[in-house]
Amino acid sequence: MKPASRAVHAGRELSARSPLAPDLSQASVHVYTDLDDYDAVARGERPGYYYGRNSNANREMLERAIAELEGAEAGVATASGMAALHGAILALAPKPATIVATRELYGGTAAMLRQDFEPAGYEVNFVDLGDLDAVRRALQGAGLLIAETITNPLCGVPDLEKLGRMARERGVPFVVDNTFATPLLCRPLELGATAVMHSATKYLGGHSDLVAGVIVGDAQTMSVARARSARTGTTLGPFDAWLALRGLRTLDVRMRRHSDNSLALARAMRAMPGVARVYHPIVDGPNRILPDGSGGMMAFDLDGGRDAVQRMMTRFKLVTFAASLGGVETTISYPEITSHRSMSAEERAALGVGPGTVRVSVGIEEAADIVADFSQALSHE
Ligand SMILES: Cc1ncc(COP(=O)(O)O)c(C=O)c1O
Repeated sequence: MKPASRAVHAGRELSARSPLAPDLSQASVHVYTDLDDYDAVARGERPGYYYGRNSNANREMLERAIAELEGAEAGVATASGMAALHGAILALAPKPATIVATRELYGGTAAMLRQDFEPAGYEVNFVDLGDLDAVRRALQGAGLLIAETITNPLCGVPDLEKLGRMARERGVPFVVDNTFATPLLCRPLELGATAVMHSATKYLGGHSDLVAGVIVGDAQTMSVARARSARTGTTLGPFDAWLALRGLRTLDVRMRRHSDNSLALARAMRAMPGVARVYHPIVDGPNRILPDGSGGMMAFDLDGGRDAVQRMMTRFKLVTFAASLGGVETTISYPEITSHRSMSAEERAALGVGPGTVRVSVGIEEAADIVADFSQALSHE
C-alpha cells in the first residue's frame, strides 16, 4: 500500500461484524475470573488488557498505525511529544553520555536537555547540522544524535541521509523529531535514523484537540521504552489515542493541502510590506529529503519587531495567534515568548530568531483567503 492508503487503514484488524471505526476502550482496568489467566496476560504471554497504564486497545492501535507508516517494527504512544522524546532518549542512551543535538531545536527540547538531562550527568553539545565536519567531530565518542526533519522555527532541512550514515558509522544512535514533516512527507528510518518521535498533538492529530506523542523504532528499543513508560506513567490516555487515530485517517489530504498553501503563502509573502525575510523548507527549490512537499510550516521576519507583530495580529480576520501548530486552521506563533521563551535573547539571536520572527502554521483553508488575510494585515506596514 502507498502511504496515503496506509494512513487510512494502518493499525486496525477488521473481521466480520467488527466496528469500522474503533470502539473507545475507556476502562482503566479489566476484570478477571482466573488468577492464571491474569498472570499470563500480565506477563505478556496471552493477549488481553489488565490495567490502563500498562496497555490499552486504543493506544496499541495508534502505536501500530504510526509504526506502520514510519516503516518501524513497533511504537510507543505517550502522554505528549515531550514524554515521547524523553522516553526515546532514555531508551537509546540510558546512562549519562554526550548528546549531540541540532542547534536549531524546538525550545522545549532544548530546555529538557538543559534542565533535565544535564543535571543528571549528560553533556549536551548543540551543533549546526549543516556543518558536517562539526557534526563528525561532535559524534566522536557521543551517545546520541538528535535532529528535526524541519527545524523549528526557521524551517531548515538537514541532510538526514548523510547524518544517518555518519551516526551509523560511529555507532551513535540517531533519533529524529519528525513532527513537522509526518511520515507522509519523510520517513527518517529509511534515511538511517534509529528511532523517530512525533508530537502527535500537531499534524498526526491535526485538529488542535489533543496532546500526545509517539516514538517508533526496532522492537527491542520500543519494548524498553514501553516498559519504562508504563513504570513512570507517561502512557497516553485512551480518548486521546482514539482522537489521534481518527485524525491520522485524513493525514494525506491534509498534508497535501498544508504543503500547497504554505508554498503559496511563502511566495506571496515575499512581496508583502514589512516582510524582511521568508523561511520555508522548499520555497527556494526542491529538497530531496522532502520530495513530496514540506507541510504547513514556515516563518518570516517582520521589520519593526514586536510592535509590528502586535499590529499585524490585531488586524487579522482569519488567522489567529496560538502557541501550537499542525491544526487545520492557520495560526501564528511568536517564538520569543512561545517555543523559544526558555532561551536568552542572545541565544535566540545566534539562531536567527529575532523580535520580528513570526512562525506560521499554514492551515487548510482556501490559499487565496490566507494570502489575502496576511496581505491586508500587513498592508499598513
Ligand atoms: C517539533 C516539536 N517537537 C516536540 C514538541 C513537543 O510536543 P508536545 O507539546 O506534544 O509535548 C513540539 C511542540 O510544540 C514541537 O513543535
